[in-house]
Amino acid sequence: MVDDKLMKTIKALQKKIDDDEEQTYSQVVIREYRNPTHFGVLEHADAVGIIKGPCGDTMKITLKVKHGRIQDARFWTDGCGATLACGNMLIKMMNGKTLHDANTITHTTLIDRLGGLPKEHSHCALLAVHTLRKTIEQYQKKKRNAGENLA
Ligand code: FES
Repeated sequence: MVDDKLMKTIKALQKKIDDDEEQTYSQVVIREYRNPTHFGVLEHADAVGIIKGPCGDTMKITLKVKHGRIQDARFWTDGCGATLACGNMLIKMMNGKTLHDANTITHTTLIDRLGGLPKEHSHCALLAVHTLRKTIEQYQKKKRNAGENLA
């Protein structure tokens, strides 16, 4: 009996959470943060970039690069659901792109691909894009230091 009541309460709470989410976030954002397929850290990555945003959350991106193209990438974050969605979508957007093209992805393009983000979460998209830029920069610096031509 008590279990039935408890289950009903849990179901009602879950429905309220789901309804609130749907009112706040686009379907794409919800899909991306519920199923972040590119979450993680690549072993033996060619480049690693980490940034702690002004909100105190951190994002890390690891890349594998071949002939100037992103072969594989993962992101990691301890941030909010919007940050998870931003990280996951950003990795999808940049996989297979040249480093130059990946570097041109802006936080507004990312937000558009996510079907929008509440204004108070725009900084989550900025954190993702800035982390990507830092990761690419780190890769280019490493190559320069090794005396490799990046052209
Ligand atoms: Fe900090 Fe989203 S709230 S990155």
